[in-house]
Amino acid sequence: MSTPGDKLGYESMPLDRTGQAEAFDAIGDRYDEAFPHKEGQVTSAEWLIRSLPAGARVLDLGCGTGIPTALQLAKAGLQVVGVDLSETMVALARDNVPTGVFHQADIADLRPGGPRDLGRFDAVAAFFSLLMLPRAEIPLTLRTVHHLLPPGGLFALSMVEADVDDFSIPFIGSTIRVSGYLGDELREVVEAADFEIVEESSYTYAPSSADVPPEVQIFLRCRRRT
Ligand SMILES: C[S@@+](CC[C@H](N)C(=O)[O-])C[C@H]1O[C@@H](n2cnc3c(N)ncnc32)[C@H](O)[C@@H]1O
Repeated sequence: MSTPGDKLGYESMPLDRTGQAEAFDAIGDRYDEAFPHKEGQVTSAEWLIRSLPAGARVLDLGCGTGIPTALQLAKAGLQVVGVDLSETMVALARDNVPTGVFHQADIADLRPGGPRDLGRFDAVAAFFSLLMLPRAEIPLTLRTVHHLLPPGGLFALSMVEADVDDFSIPFIGSTIRVSGYLGDELREVVEAADFEIVEESSYTYAPSSADVPPEVQIFLRCRRRT
């Protein structure tokens, strides 16, 4: 029997999460030391805070430790719900953001008709979490975000600019698989999921090794169109 989730196209897609949560379980609270640059997340969360009414309900998708985003949103008086695949990240987020509600769950579980129904949200933030999915899943996830929002609902997304699909990279003593797009393609994928991009910023960070190109982070601030 098909479910509404099947209509998104998940039924023909085996979901392989091997090693993804384990890498973040292993990193634990060293994650925030290893990735100290949070300017983009802070700026996009400020946009959410100034655009939303008091007490609005916001989903932090792939919330990690809850720092900085869930904490920033909660301190601004928003109702924060966080979701992350990693049990350790969820435990850290619960400690860091006592007023938030955090669930250990897969992003894919939130699809329409999927196993986790967390209700609807006024806004969704997904900072560097969709990059943990294979490219084939990213448009489906964007449709899930669309489904979780009302028309006009806010969506703040960030990705690393890179033309890769399910590509293995070393990650603080573990290996993770990541996907990305070049800027124009990312905008096309987001707009195809019926979001209007209302603001954009990017940040370039030099790597610690001279052999590796700089990392370009793209932040899109969007509204659900219809
Ligand atoms: C690169 S971190 C970003 C954390 C945080 N959003 C930030 O801006 O620092 C990616 C997070 O996504 C989580 N994640 C990876 N795959 C996921 C999935 N399929 N469903 C839910 N969370 C996932 C990881 O456990 C990790 O905490």
